[in-house]
Amino acid sequence: NYYAILMAGGVGSRFWPVSTTEFPKQFHDMLGTGETLIQRTFSRLSKIVPPKNIFILTNERYNDLVLEQLPQAEQRQVVTEPAMRNTAPCILYAAMKIQKENPEAVMVVAPSDHWIENEDAFISNLGKCFEACAQKDILMTLGIQPTFPNTGYGYIQYNKEENSVKEVIQFTEKPNYETAKRFLNEGNYLWNAGIFIWSVTSIINAFSSFQKEMTALFDKGRELYNTGKEYEFICSNYPKAENISIDYAILEKAENVYVFPATFDWNDLGTWGSLYDKLEKNDVKNAIVNARVLSQDASGNMIRTVNDKIVVVDGLEDYIIVDKEEVLLIYPKKKEQNIKEVLNKVKETF
Ligand code: GDD
Ligand code: MG
Repeated sequence: NYYAILMAGGVGSRFWPVSTTEFPKQFHDMLGTGETLIQRTFSRLSKIVPPKNIFILTNERYNDLVLEQLPQAEQRQVVTEPAMRNTAPCILYAAMKIQKENPEAVMVVAPSDHWIENEDAFISNLGKCFEACAQKDILMTLGIQPTFPNTGYGYIQYNKEENSVKEVIQFTEKPNYETAKRFLNEGNYLWNAGIFIWSVTSIINAFSSFQKEMTALFDKGRELYNTGKEYEFICSNYPKAENISIDYAILEKAENVYVFPATFDWNDLGTWGSLYDKLEKNDVKNAIVNARVLSQDASGNMIRTVNDKIVVVDGLEDYIIVDKEEVLLIYPKKKEQNIKEVLNKVKETF
């Protein structure tokens, strides 16, 4: 009864110029391992979920890219969205489809763009969550020990007294810096890894309580799901759904949320700097992917080219140097959050 949905609809604009709207980061080999992030995620999940029960949720425009990169998946496993509406609508839609196929299903929702070290621990954590959710009407998330007041994550305040699975007191999506600092000082907070586990029944019930309109919208198509008439229904109705993430739509509101403190190393590969942190560095602390580098007085740099280009650097510290066919980015790592805006400016200018 185990199922998985793999979220692969994001654009990853802070990884420009490698990640683009036409070809987002999850379809790239960001770690230089010979596998793309979505391929890695699929094979990781296959260790606990039967491959035919893994569904990939993505925008229509990436349908062929998914099939090309995941030859193990059939077309029925690629669930496409005609419009970008963030994560809540696509999770509800997928849960209803899966429920129709198997009313007893317990599913994991997994982002396609994370770095996870120690896959055995990941699988064992997931197994415990699956078991818990098969027995109880609960919504589970995996929690990560926070290390700094990151404002890009959800924070989970948990009940200290419980054991391996902890009751959540309050879920706060993306707090401001001051609040995040306070959470860290208080101590009983974890980061939300963005990996959720629940039975299809529990998540659909939660949507019925907290997202009535959205539930009514997708409910109208129930008898059409998994039939030839589904596509037409989705094309005309999906765009009407509210643009909202699962974190705001459900997790901040529900009262049956639990957290399992993860025992694996995790990183949301969101920026070049986070990738730099996870890659192996050479003796002068440069992280190099697909490049042959000759350096002097250069350290802390993230260097990546296409086709193993020769790169010579001298006197450069803590920079991102990323070469693509038509673009070369040389940008200070400490300003990496601005790359999104830089990209917009580039689009306006050229
Ligand atoms: N199919 C589909 N459709 N996938 C989507 C869509 C969509 O419209 N929008 C986003 N996704 C995918 C992204 O590709 C990513 O894999 C995942 O859903 C999460 O979306 P993000 O946009 O990356 O969310 P976030 O990083 O801002 O925040 C979430 O993840 C954090 C941890 O990485 C939240 O869950 C936070 O609470 C959490 O801490
Ligand atoms: Mg993310």
